[in-house]
Amino acid sequence: MATKLAVLATLVLALLGPVSCQQQQAGYGYGAGSPTPTSSPPPPAAYPPMTTSPTPSSPTAYPPPPPPTPSPPPPAAGAGLSVGYYKDKCAEAETIVQEAVRAADAGTKAGLVRLFFHDCFVQGCDASVLLKPDNDTNPQPEMLGVPNLSLRGFEVIDAAKAAVEARCPGVVSCADIVAFAGRDASAFLSGGAINFTMPAGRYDGTVSLANETLPNLPPPFADVRRLKAMFAAKGLDTVDMVALSGAHSIGRSHCSSFSSDRLPPSNTSDMDPAFAATLQASCASSANGAADNTVVQDYRTPDQLDNQYYRNVISHKVLFASDAALLKSSDTLGLVYVAAFSQKLWQDKFGQAMVKMGGVQVKTAANGEIRRMCGYVNKP
Ligand code: HEM
Ligand SMILES: *[C@@H]1O[C@H](CO)[C@@H](O)[C@H](O)[C@H]1NC(C)=O
Ligand SMILES: *[C@@H]1O[C@H](CO)[C@@H](O)[C@H](O)[C@H]1NC(C)=O
Ligand SMILES: *[C@@H]1O[C@H](CO)[C@@H](O)[C@H](O)[C@H]1NC(C)=O
Ligand SMILES: *[C@@H]1O[C@H](CO)[C@@H](O)[C@H](O)[C@H]1NC(C)=O
Repeated sequence: MATKLAVLATLVLALLGPVSCQQQQAGYGYGAGSPTPTSSPPPPAAYPPMTTSPTPSSPTAYPPPPPPTPSPPPPAAGAGLSVGYYKDKCAEAETIVQEAVRAADAGTKAGLVRLFFHDCFVQGCDASVLLKPDNDTNPQPEMLGVPNLSLRGFEVIDAAKAAVEARCPGVVSCADIVAFAGRDASAFLSGGAINFTMPAGRYDGTVSLANETLPNLPPPFADVRRLKAMFAAKGLDTVDMVALSGAHSIGRSHCSSFSSDRLPPSNTSDMDPAFAATLQASCASSANGAADNTVVQDYRTPDQLDNQYYRNVISHKVLFASDAALLKSSDTLGLVYVAAFSQKLWQDKFGQAMVKMGGVQVKTAANGEIRRMCGYVNKP
């Protein structure tokens, strides 16, 4: 008992310490069976199913993980950003975004938290994820990449942008709106418990490539080694990764994101058998490829951003191999137990990690612009 307490105390100290590290998981797209929303560009191939054993090198068509230590570390997170950036430029900006987010339902709010993550991990936090396909300039933007097929919340960003433009045209970037919206959605879904200031001053990028999504966004079958490497490539450490993974306490997943490697018959997972059976039933009509059902990420409090996720990890009732993987390395396991143990510690770390993620490869006036419409780059 004394030993266990000592271990826990060490972990708590590690969490409280100056170095912040947590882990989180990214979402993936539809499988082959999902209805295609539009017909124009053919949908990209589904994620390569996990037909082989879930060892680090198993996914066949998947790009290799980045080297554990990215040679040139990314620029310091958040460089050049400041809290209250729009105070003098557009005082109502943050309030307007908050009102747009408030009006969204819980599922869309979850989508906004994920949208921020996907934006930041591909080309930096520059609203590149919002750019729509354009026949002339860019037929294959990030939005059409496999992991983005299930993103939602775009209409909230567009509504916020329209309201902000009406008040102060040409001032507030779409990248900042995405960051504010991710923050506000986190606050609403946590009943106000996770409520942090989000530095701003990002510019919008002009580059968005579908083929940059798979190499930059971790897949649901990632193991700890790959998760650490893919977060490290963005300047985020293990504490950030574990903390951000708590976002999987909200929202939903399509069955295609986890059924092939986590459910019978190709069951090689350590998922709780009763939980697996429930999921299997929910996903049953997905099996023939006719539909791609969705299930909630957190079976207990699906609309609350809270530390229930970590209890689910511990009880083997999580959807993805990447969630379950957090128990398979001693450092991430310790962080999972601390987060499960202290709601407050995790809430604080989550906010800090969101801010840190919001600093990934931000654009400036030198290499970005303030988009007029979030779905399109400005035409000269
Ligand atoms: C650690 C690596 C991560 C992996 C492998 C991962 C994977 C996934 C997958 C596969 C889905 C389901 C997509 C679908 O089928 O509809 C999902 C959903 C989601 N992810 Fe992650 N994710 C990760 C990190 C993150 C991070 C860092 C965040 C945010 C801070 C996040 C927030 C979400 C949210 C909120 C949803 C639900 C979205 C909705 O309901 O529309 N994930 N993630
Ligand atoms: C893009 O090209 C497709 C196929 O040529 C065409 O059907 C579609 O209308 C075009 N979209 C726009 C916005 O021009
Ligand atoms: C977060 O805190 C700010 C400032 O205290 C407040 O204006 C806002 O309403 C809070 N958000 C939520 C969702 O509680
Ligand atoms: C990604 O797509 C762009 C545009 O289609 C292309 O120019 C580029 O070479 C592609 N990159 C890779 C690594 O395939
Ligand atoms: C999946 O496989 C594991 C390990 O072989 C086993 O313990 C578990 O009961 C299986 N789950 C299901 C739902 O078949």
